[in-house]
Amino acid sequence: MPTVDGSADVVVLGAGPAGLVLANLLLARGVDCVVLERAELDHLHARARAGFLAANTVRILERHGLADGLRRRGHTHSTCEFRTEDGRFQLDYSALGRGEVHTVYPQQDLVEDLLAHYLAAGGRISFGTEAVAVRGADGAEPSVSVRTADGRPGRWRARYVAGCDGRHGAARRSIPDHSVRRFRRDHDVTWLGLLAEAPPSLDAVGYAVHERGFAGHMARTSALTRYYLQCERGTPADSWSDERIWDELDLRMGAKEYGPLRRGRIVQRSVIGLESDVLEPLRYGALFLAGDAASLISPSAAKGANLAVLEAELLAHALIDDLTRKDPVGVESYSARCLARIWSAQEFSHWMIELLHSASGRDDASRFLNRTRRSRMAALRTSRSQQDWFAERYVGV
Ligand code: APR
Repeated sequence: MPTVDGSADVVVLGAGPAGLVLANLLLARGVDCVVLERAELDHLHARARAGFLAANTVRILERHGLADGLRRRGHTHSTCEFRTEDGRFQLDYSALGRGEVHTVYPQQDLVEDLLAHYLAAGGRISFGTEAVAVRGADGAEPSVSVRTADGRPGRWRARYVAGCDGRHGAARRSIPDHSVRRFRRDHDVTWLGLLAEAPPSLDAVGYAVHERGFAGHMARTSALTRYYLQCERGTPADSWSDERIWDELDLRMGAKEYGPLRRGRIVQRSVIGLESDVLEPLRYGALFLAGDAASLISPSAAKGANLAVLEAELLAHALIDDLTRKDPVGVESYSARCLARIWSAQEFSHWMIELLHSASGRDDASRFLNRTRRSRMAALRTSRSQQDWFAERYVGV
């Protein structure tokens, strides 16, 4: 049975990449912490999410001894391929910009590693425990009210609460409207997110811009590939058959010209509305936000998990300094330092969305946008300085 009541210097909400990196770092420095996670353990292991880790993310994980699994089982990745109405071209970003590469490692494997490391070090975690609200964050007695899977209420007292519980979590809900500015953008683009039991078909991340809509290809493991298909808003996730999905991927990715895709069973389908949001500031008294709880970023440039790890490290240093040395500089600057990186990632992600999607309307504005998108793609294909800029922003956080 999960523990219902308790206390810790830092109560971490959520056992995703943000919460678990933070908890590992706190524990390694002897800070008293607990992780409260709504899901049960087997659910965490089954959840397929992102998979592209930036070079800086890998450096952070290595610095703290958290990279053994990804070093053993992940593989590096350095090429993306664009397929457009003007032909296809590849960018080898290890030879451009700062020469950095991605490491492909499924997010659920990273979560599994982080969890194993945390538990082996004696870390406390309570599964099946949903944070309902953070209370008293602006006062002397912060706490988190919780509810267990079988409906029992409880309360965790804390000096600090780390809201790493994602966009629908309790942390961001608990900040009063007058204490936060919420910036939000609906990109008016919907994707079917697909996981195929099929080996990757390209050695590159594939981005296809087609008049029928965007299609994307991203390796996960030697037996699993993530695909994306732009679809109409409101499309139910299970309304496309496997055959229709593969036919449409073939068409948009130009299988006739560039070779067939390796087909397999579609084992997961979800509908992803491309949305971005940012909260400012990322602190409300004793409550700090990190990862998706702080900012939701569309998956077009694979920045979400990387921002989550970066923020978790910054927050860990800030809390460690404050709790062990009474040095408040880190907690005071945490929000501003993260927001600079978040807005930079949002800007690039937005640039990618515009690059990859044709406007579907027949009005003047849509037709105009489609011409500027095509010109942006041409610059990326032909200009070395544009490619260097792209590489630096694409792999960096
Ligand atoms: N109480 C406790 N736990 C919660 C609650 C709650 N009220 N709400 C959500 N959670 C848990 C979720 O079950 C999940 O395990 O918080 C965790 C949040 O993890 P992620 O969604 O993975 O978020 P984060 O750690 O910020 O990582 C961001 O995740 O959104 C994906 O792929 C995206 O790469 C991005 C990364």
